Amino acid sequence: MRLTVLSTLFLATTSLAAGSALAAGDLNLICAADVVICEQMKGDFEKDHDIKVNMVRMSSGEAYAKIRAEARNPKTDLWWAGTGDPHLQAASEGLTEEYKSPMLDQLQDWAKSQAESSGFKTVGVYAGALGWGYNTDIFKQKGYKEPKCWADLLAPELKGELQIANPNSSGTAYTALASLVQIMGEDKAFEYLKALNANISQYTKSGSAPVKAAARGETGLGIVFMHDAVAQIAEGFPVKSIAPCEGTGYEIGSMSIVKGARNMENAKIWYDWSLKPEVQSRMKDAKSFQLPSNKTAEIPKEAPRFEDIKLIDYDFKTYGDPEKRKALLERWDREIGAVAN
Ligand code: F6P
Repeated sequence: MRLTVLSTLFLATTSLAAGSALAAGDLNLICAADVVICEQMKGDFEKDHDIKVNMVRMSSGEAYAKIRAEARNPKTDLWWAGTGDPHLQAASEGLTEEYKSPMLDQLQDWAKSQAESSGFKTVGVYAGALGWGYNTDIFKQKGYKEPKCWADLLAPELKGELQIANPNSSGTAYTALASLVQIMGEDKAFEYLKALNANISQYTKSGSAPVKAAARGETGLGIVFMHDAVAQIAEGFPVKSIAPCEGTGYEIGSMSIVKGARNMENAKIWYDWSLKPEVQSRMKDAKSFQLPSNKTAEIPKEAPRFEDIKLIDYDFKTYGDPEKRKALLERWDREIGAVAN
């Protein structure tokens, strides 16, 4: 009897040791959100675990391209954050691993449906609506009218005053492209984008760069996620954030484990950890003001609320489909990118 107890104890101790051995080592992470939240997440995770995080920060489209390029020999284990469409594209292309986190039941319906629709190859970590932020000082000095609608962004007085990212690299700009297509129809949306091009001074690589430039007075207005405009207001810059009157799209920022990840167990540990309410509640400390996916995480008081915004019923399945995303980006390259200043 005594022997049995001892051997059970021995077995339990060795399997615990094996468990913690698995939980040590490295995690190769792509972080596709703002650098400040990326650093905070890495630091908090390393404090809580005996795992070293090797992190690179990229925009959403770049992250997808890297995961795709590495498909035969994955160097990345986990892709945290960035807009959902490229995560869905990667899921459809079999680049990411199916994983049903024990945390799923704690998530908002939009985060769970992102998981279900991808065969559990991605999951929602936050959500946020698209809009813009403008520099109130510049608009006042130059006597510009406040642009409340997509149509107002075409005003000739705004020539050279606007920035948006390039939708190939940026998930924000792809969300804008797909939203306009859903609001106007594809041909009308491209006509709109051609007209808008006259007012755009620069197509940036990262999605939030345009409103950072507006905040610092380098441009008048940036088309961005509203939470990124709000982050600049929280930094004390003279910015106002706008939800377009015709309606707008939104992102389900997502997370995926790379298929064939070398540090698979560690990727799952980050995955479950980053869906915890206490982790998501801390995101606001990095001025990351998206809506968290865990139902009990604290919603930052600064976060633009979906109830206050005219949201379209964004079709994530269609616009995260590889064929659709590829076709829209190719058309953008031909009709907008090729003629851009
Ligand atoms: O800055 C944060 C954020 O807007 C996220 O909400 C979003 O998922 C990501 O950046 C998109 O970045 P990018 O447009 O550069 O891919």
